[in-house]
Amino acid sequence: MALRLGDTAPNFTAKTSLGEIDFYEYLGNGWGILFSHPADYTPVCTTELGKTALLQEEFAKRNVKVLAVSVDSLGKHEGWIKDINETQHTTVNFPIIADEDRNVATLYDMIHPNASATTTVRSLFVIGPDKTVKLIITYPASTGRNFIEVLRVVDSLQLTANYSVATPADWKQGEDVIVALSVSAEDAIKKFPKGVEVVKPYLRYTPQPDLI
Ligand code: BEZ
Repeated sequence: MALRLGDTAPNFTAKTSLGEIDFYEYLGNGWGILFSHPADYTPVCTTELGKTALLQEEFAKRNVKVLAVSVDSLGKHEGWIKDINETQHTTVNFPIIADEDRNVATLYDMIHPNASATTTVRSLFVIGPDKTVKLIITYPASTGRNFIEVLRVVDSLQLTANYSVATPADWKQGEDVIVALSVSAEDAIKKFPKGVEVVKPYLRYTPQPDLI
């Protein structure tokens, strides 16, 4: 059955471009992003992996480990990584799974047979430190994902995990956030000393709590 938000992310071991990996061990106590690519030596995938490599520092700052999946072989990955580094002016330093037996693709329902019987769609899972699935996005092969949006969602998820807040439409770092409905009016004042703006009893804003 397909994975849903809140489900436990299945563990697996896999051959990757950086050696054999146990997924849970790789993630440790931090956050993770597992994302699939239809095939090696394809143009959109090349730009996506390049962009992810360029954003490595941003992922590391957020304690997020990334792990890519492609159903091609390790041999193919090696040559392709050289092409990605050359054409995208970066160094891919995260692992890419060689999922030739489709084990990971099947566990995470990354093959959508009516889109392609053999290759994965562009699935992306954000996994929390508790190993549950926090975000699922699925794009078709022809559309490259927006990795700035992926970072934005991670920021939102981490704020929600650490404070009793949610983020409004189009929220960006530094903008006000929404006080969770579970917080009473009385508690809101105590929990958010920077102030609470009550627009409606159910719509309350507070400055982003993790900024000084
Ligand atoms: C691509 O990465 O460019 C791609 C891969 C599979 C199908 C279509 C596009």
